[in-house]
Amino acid sequence: MSAPQRVGTAADLSPGKVVGVGRYAVGNANGRYFAVTRKCRHLGADLAGGNIDENGCLVCPWHHSAYDVGTGRMVRGPQGNYAKVPGLDFLYRMLTRVLPLGRKPVTERDGELYLGS
Ligand code: FES
Repeated sequence: MSAPQRVGTAADLSPGKVVGVGRYAVGNANGRYFAVTRKCRHLGADLAGGNIDENGCLVCPWHHSAYDVGTGRMVRGPQGNYAKVPGLDFLYRMLTRVLPLGRKPVTERDGELYLGS
């Protein structure tokens, strides 16, 4: 088992912020820290460049699909022209039921955040 990896200070990861740490996008969704693998299941955008929507979901910076950061599942498929493709939204939501984003716990100790427990 590897040692927990330092993310930064809790003060630096304010609600709505997302950063990249290794192969994870680490963020603060309405006060809840999360870490999910950072490659979007659609076309591979870096989710560390995404943002948090009003529901606490991680939104992809390219085509604005949205992920539940607790389960790693897509809850809204790619938007824009992709949203006009029949069945695509359903397909990606089902795909990420089988292949959700990987997740890792984020722990806070003495004001510092770490990936892993
Ligand atoms: S690459 Fe993420 S929605 Fe297209």
